[in-house]
Amino acid sequence: MRNPIVAYIAGAMAGFVFGCLFRFDTYLAKDRGGDSNGGGTANQRLIYVVTPTYARPQQKAELTRLSYALRLAGNIHWVLVEDSAKPTEMVSSLVKQSGIPFTLLNVETPPEYKLRTRDPSWLKPRGVLQRNAALHFLREKTSPEDDSVVYFADDDNTYDVRLFEEMRLTKKASVWPVGLVGGLMVERPIVIDGRIKRFNAVFRPDRTYPIDMAAFAVSLKLLKNHPDAVFSLNVPRGHQETHFLTKLLSRVSELEPRADNCTKVLVWHTRTENTDLKLEKRLAMPSNQGIEV
Ligand SMILES: *[C@@H]1O[C@H](CO)[C@@H](O)[C@H](O)[C@H]1NC(C)=O
Repeated sequence: MRNPIVAYIAGAMAGFVFGCLFRFDTYLAKDRGGDSNGGGTANQRLIYVVTPTYARPQQKAELTRLSYALRLAGNIHWVLVEDSAKPTEMVSSLVKQSGIPFTLLNVETPPEYKLRTRDPSWLKPRGVLQRNAALHFLREKTSPEDDSVVYFADDDNTYDVRLFEEMRLTKKASVWPVGLVGGLMVERPIVIDGRIKRFNAVFRPDRTYPIDMAAFAVSLKLLKNHPDAVFSLNVPRGHQETHFLTKLLSRVSELEPRADNCTKVLVWHTRTENTDLKLEKRLAMPSNQGIEV
């Protein structure tokens, strides 16, 4: 494997095999009409919220926060995909306890795709195989009549529940501003006369769809009409959204502007500070021995 191209192709194949071996565990709530989170959810259009997640000290805190946003968001099916060889106890019990109808999947990113110090940053494919596992599940396990919406909601963003009402209006693909992303206060489409004319992105503005994963939702039917729309381990950083959307749409003007013609921020790309665990490492026995944090 001295030849980097051979190593690369082998890695991609390993990733494909891993991607085919995920397992899943589905729970469907029978009736959420009488639920305390707003009521009347049975009449609301369903949203499949896809969340890739991986083990780190902040994981449980992030998933707890997201689960509370989803509890308030009405008719939701949470497709949670762990980057792990098997489902973890923590995530399994958290998602069951959340009361949100869910599907729990897992697929491990092969070690050769996890970022090492000397790798170029575009090699980092975080969430790629996990989102693809969710897409596979959605295309194979939902009914052809299912007219739901699909949204990729990372576990470290902050969501205003009104965002979910906006995405329920999606015909093919909806888009809206995202706060605190791409080096800007807000990254957003510029809408003129109700149509998207351009984007204000400064980070890699040459992208066809210079938007964040949190900025759009698509209809499940559109996904099923374009089975080749998947995420890729082989695209440069920041290009996953464009790679995916160019398979689903033929032009930018097909995107439907939401959130008052893309003038309201209802989702923020907040990022949790990396916890300083220097002192923890000095302990003879971990502070969380026998305690889930
Ligand atoms: C968006 O802009 C169009 C065209 O100016 C206007 O007709 C429409 O009412 C606007 N929509 C919202 C939600 O503000």
